Parts: sequence; structure tokens; C-alpha cells
Amino acid sequence: MKIEKSGYDVWGRSRTNGTKILVPPYLENAFKDMMNETGISIKVLRRNIKSVVDRSRKARRQNTRRFIGTSKNSFDFDRFLRYEEIINFIHNLVRHSKYAEIINIGNSFEGRPIIGLKIEGSKNIPKIFIDAGIHAREWAAPITALYLMKMMVDHEDTLHEKISIYVIPVVNPDGYEYSHTVDRFWRKTRSRIDGTECVGTDANRNFNSHWAEFGASPDPCSDIFPGLEAFSEPETQAIRDTILAIEPDLYLTFHSYGPMLLYPWGFTKSLPSNWQELDKLAKIAAHKLKQLNGQDYTIGSSANVLYLASGASDDWAMQVAKVPLVYTMELPDYGEGFITPIEKIKPMVRETYKAFKVFVKYVCALRHINCS
Ligand code: ARG
Ligand code: ZN
Repeated sequence: MKIEKSGYDVWGRSRTNGTKILVPPYLENAFKDMMNETGISIKVLRRNIKSVVDRSRKARRQNTRRFIGTSKNSFDFDRFLRYEEIINFIHNLVRHSKYAEIINIGNSFEGRPIIGLKIEGSKNIPKIFIDAGIHAREWAAPITALYLMKMMVDHEDTLHEKISIYVIPVVNPDGYEYSHTVDRFWRKTRSRIDGTECVGTDANRNFNSHWAEFGASPDPCSDIFPGLEAFSEPETQAIRDTILAIEPDLYLTFHSYGPMLLYPWGFTKSLPSNWQELDKLAKIAAHKLKQLNGQDYTIGSSANVLYLASGASDDWAMQVAKVPLVYTMELPDYGEGFITPIEKIKPMVRETYKAFKVFVKYVCALRHINCS
């Protein structure tokens, strides 16, 4: 069923928990009829998602007012930032650091710089590459990347010359801004192509690994449109070129919502040759994470625990760029899917940092370096 085509918005689709679908009011009856006919049982999870969006907007406004009233550096992970604020945040971190530098890996379709932060040491130390915000509406992801950056800078003296870390917090700034200003549930980039009014490509279907084979739709209006060709998007080109240049030991890409810690493959249900190592490391990371707030993560390969979807950055990084350790981290659902309640930001980013530290320790240990 081509459900993406027709005004419905598919949220979570999972093997174990069924599929969540956002149904616009004018389609409610048609949807019920359709499900009745096919014999699929449905459950109404939330009647009025707009009220949730409105509530989180209001909270954001209030916290911004507080922010403006105080000194400039007082941002304390109590709200979500606009892209410009994120850029300022990064500049501020660098200003207060000995080793951190800004990286600019390219420009988005609409010309926004895709920037991030690195703490880079000499050539033969392990490297971790992190990105977030490939999908616009998953605001949990960029804010988590920002927290990791902050913690990196706070601990830069221990990390420096032991490990190099690179973080790009918003891969898709055009979509991110659009999800702030126009459509809270925008997922794709904002690129235009000739011959259609529909905008955007699913950047996480745009990578050249089994491109457009699974979990993608040729309809440019679909949320999982993979683009007219692989790497059609400047945003995915930038990530590709950066990963190829860095050759990281570990690639971690943040999405929401799960909670799930996924390793390749997404294009097949069979597993990569090092899946046991991936699985074991994920379990240690999730165990550490859970100790903080009791959050439980599901662990497994994308195709097995989630769905078949190819052309994603994780598969490409492992299959083509030969990054040995690759994870997609789907940050938690706190009951409202893509809307992370602002009071959950702190617990979420702090527990995620615990998992990140496990990854850091592990890639260091592989080279007999002590990074803790
Ligand atoms: N939610 C992500 C997406 O749909 C998960 C990607 C997981 N990786 C994969 N290769 N399918 O894009
Ligand atoms: Zn995503």
C-alpha cells in the first residue's frame, strides 16, 4: 500500500510495535474504512497532535525569553535551538577551548553552511565521526550532538592526542529550519527538482549503497523519495566526502525516534561479518546508558529490528567507506514521537553521553590507548 502518497505520514514502523501513522482529520474516516477492509486493527494513540505541537512551541518561546534576558552563554539544554543559535553555540565552544576547531564541510541546497566541531590530533590515533539531523524533524538528534561537543570540550585535555572526534550536529539545516518555521514534521532536504511541485529528498535514502532498492519511493512527493540519483543532495555529498577524508574507526549517526541502537545492514537481513563485535559493543554501551535513567534500548541490525531500507548513511559508511564500526542511534520516544519534551532533553543527552564514552573507550582500547 502506498500510504506515503496520500496525505498520511508514517512515523514509527517497527516489527514489534506496529506502525504509527499520523492521519490528517479529513482522512480519518477514509483511513478507518481502509483498515477495516484490509482487516488491520488500529488503535488511536493521540487524537490531536496539533495540541502537542502547540504546547512545545509555547514552552520554546518561554525558555527563549528567559535566555534573552540572561547572559549569552546560559543555554543549558532546556530548549531546542534554531540553526543560527547552533552556529553561535559552536563558535562559543571554540572560543573557550584550546584544541577544538570549527569544521565547514559544505553548504546545504539553500546555501546554509554545514558546520561542526573537531578535536583533532596526530594521524595515527583513533577517530570517531558523528553526525545528526539528517532528518529535519528529529530535533532530539542535533541537541544530543551539541551536548557531546560540549562534553568533548570540557574534557579536551584528556582526549587531546589520544583520539580525534568530529561532530556535525545538523546535516540538513534547510529541513531543520523548515521544521521550525513551517512544518514541524518535515523530514527531507529542501531541494527542488524540475517537473514537480514536491520538495525534498530523503537524505538517508540518498547514499550510494543499494540506492533506491528498499524502503524508498520513486514519488518525489513521498517522505522516502531517495532523489533522482545517489548523492544528488549537497548535504549527503558533504557527509560522503568528509567520511572518505577522515576514514573514521567509528561512525555514529543520530536519529529519532526509538529507542534503538542499530548496526548495518539496512538493505538486507543478513549481517555484516563483524556483527558480533557490533552487537557486543552496543550492548555494553546500552548497559552503561541504562544505568543513568533506566532507559532501555533495542539492539540489532536495521533490517531485522526496524525495516528494510537501503541508501542510508550507515550502510554506505560500512559497505563503501569501509568504516568498521557503524551505528544509527534512534534516540528515545517520550510518548510524543518526534516531539521530545524539553524536560527530557537533559536526561536524554546525559545518558547518551554515557554510551558515547563507551564507544570512545573501545576504539582507543583497540589501539592500546587509554582514553578515560
Ligand atoms: N529511521 C532511519 C531511517 O528510516 C533508520 C535507518 C537505519 N539504517 C538503515 N540502513 N536502514 O532512515
Ligand atoms: Zn531519521
